[in-house]
Amino acid sequence: MKRIKVQVAPRHYDVMMERGLIDHAGRELVRLLGKGRRCFVVTVLQVRKLWGGKLEASLTKAGLRVEFLEMGDGETHKNFRTLESLAERMVALGADRNCAVIALGGGVVGDVAGFLAACYMRGVDFVQIPTTLLAQVDASVGGKTGVNLKAGKNLAGAFHQPLAVLIDSDVLATLPEREFRAGLYESVKCGVIGDAALFRFMEANSEKVLRRDGAALDRVIAASVKLKARVVAADEREGGLRRILNFGHTLGHALEAETGYKHFLHGEAVAWGMIGAVRIAQATKRITDVEAERIVRAVFSFGGLPEVKVSPKKVLARLVSDKKSQAGVVHFILPKSKIGAVEVVTGIPDSVVLDAIDALRRLSAG
Ligand SMILES: NC(=O)c1ccc[n+]([C@@H]2O[C@H](COP(=O)([O-])OP(=O)(O)OC[C@H]3O[C@@H](n4cnc5c(N)ncnc54)[C@H](O)[C@@H]3O)[C@@H](O)[C@H]2O)c1
Ligand SMILES: [Zn+2]
Repeated sequence: MKRIKVQVAPRHYDVMMERGLIDHAGRELVRLLGKGRRCFVVTVLQVRKLWGGKLEASLTKAGLRVEFLEMGDGETHKNFRTLESLAERMVALGADRNCAVIALGGGVVGDVAGFLAACYMRGVDFVQIPTTLLAQVDASVGGKTGVNLKAGKNLAGAFHQPLAVLIDSDVLATLPEREFRAGLYESVKCGVIGDAALFRFMEANSEKVLRRDGAALDRVIAASVKLKARVVAADEREGGLRRILNFGHTLGHALEAETGYKHFLHGEAVAWGMIGAVRIAQATKRITDVEAERIVRAVFSFGGLPEVKVSPKKVLARLVSDKKSQAGVVHFILPKSKIGAVEVVTGIPDSVVLDAIDALRRLSAG
């Protein structure tokens, strides 16, 4: 089994990776949680049907006490109502502060279950078992948990690091194609911001990766997790370095918001956002055309993206009013001279941003 250390306070933890790991999750978790421990597995119906049985069998066999808590599927359920109902159900089931919460699902389940673990009785132990590629390479590592408010995404939450993250890439076999590809763009991001070898691997092996070849996939997931672990260890709470993980996200978030979160999956919006950032980097002479085209080609090699049909002016307005932007100052993460390095940049002229958004519209219209 592969173990990647995440070195954060209050304690370090491992991301454990192995194909088929869900079948011996119990063996690993009983070491961390102790025999007889009560575990509440937060999940959604679909994932429970596909993978819940295996996990339950494995945890029970290892001597853990397991109960499932289902929540509604999808981003619209990532809110305080869901959190409250889960917490009330735990109280009704007699969960005390010694119980553990396990997230079995995608990033939505991970964020809600993590926030539940952070606040239930002022905090209980938490374990992540991510089942989407996006959650495996990104959402499950780093300790950010939370829910959405009407005013915007992820506006309420807490940092709550898990005791462990268990990644079994076999569970990705059942993931819908579009969800799978959306996760791959986050790994392309990891390559561009800090791992040129990962980028080259994805560039050269896109077919294998798209076929979900086990070894290729594990290589991509492990490298992405390592990169994220390295960044969050250096900057747990997003002072400076952690910002680089937002490559593609400045424009990506604006595209998602401008289309009401219905047109793009998050990873797809980030894919367009990365291409936009590359165009801005070209216009401001940060990267050569050759390197820029390599990034654009790599993104497109993982499949078609939904069309960008937005008003560049409206997207620009969103960038400035983004609730998370700092005092209206827009930060772009831009490639810096070569693949594998980026910098945080402010003060990009509006005209350059508008041109980049327009370039996306033209590219996507073919
Ligand atoms: N905490 C963080 O650091 C962080 C980072 C990135 C994203 N996120 C959050 O993650 C969320 C997006 O996560 P997501 O893309 O995983 O979406 P998701 O959790 O909604 O999962 C997508 C869909 O896949 C299904 N699914 C999950 N695993 C499956 C499997 N193995 N087989 C078949 N179907 C499966 C789910 O039922 C769901 O319908 C967003 O809310 C985002 O804010 C958090
Ligand atoms: Zn993202």
